[in-house]
Amino acid sequence: MLRIGVLASHGGSNLQAIIDYFEKEKIDAEIVTVVSNNKSAYALERAKNKNIDTIVISRKNVSSTKEYSELLIEHFGSKSVDLIVLAGFMVILDEIFIKHFENKILNIHPSLIPAFCGQGYYGLRVHEEALKRGVKVTGATVHFVNEVTDGGPIVIQKAVEVLDTDTPETLQKRVMEEAEWKILPEAIRLIAENKILVEGGFVRRIK
Ligand code: GRF
Repeated sequence: MLRIGVLASHGGSNLQAIIDYFEKEKIDAEIVTVVSNNKSAYALERAKNKNIDTIVISRKNVSSTKEYSELLIEHFGSKSVDLIVLAGFMVILDEIFIKHFENKILNIHPSLIPAFCGQGYYGLRVHEEALKRGVKVTGATVHFVNEVTDGGPIVIQKAVEVLDTDTPETLQKRVMEEAEWKILPEAIRLIAENKILVEGGFVRRIK
């Protein structure tokens, strides 16, 4: 069984999408712990409602990203986690964390990478920039995390149409509903079923 650790800072709608998917589909995977840097994150409530282990590991209590990453490595190690899912996690992680879990950290980004991604592109800003550029299609990307922000191997992408009437808020909502909540659980399923391989920085699907 694939043991999953989720890191979330805010609402946790992506966490909820994973929980719901696991309840509906037969997947050989389980969320064994949900970690937040923010004690008020609603993601923690969503986990508690399903009796999933939760813990707050605050960034404020340590002096460096390295020290913070070490705390996370220790916690995930104690839970024998095989896969880490970043579901709206707003803390920068040190390279020791990324190396420790090489090709074992998934992130969801609300655009079609390589558009509107990289440093500073998070939250509503991503959708504001997409609307400013006048793109007709945007979407979401699930990728493995490497040392380049939003630069790791791409697992799944899904496109979403941009409407003339869209605001950053309506676009954000549709990208979540039509893309993020679908492809994140789907990517986890592929990993749980050993259907993907990471080779030379690319993800290959195994039939
Ligand atoms: C999502 O838009 C995700 O793409 C980004 O952070 C947001 C998290 O939302 N990485 P939620 O906390 O899962 O509702």
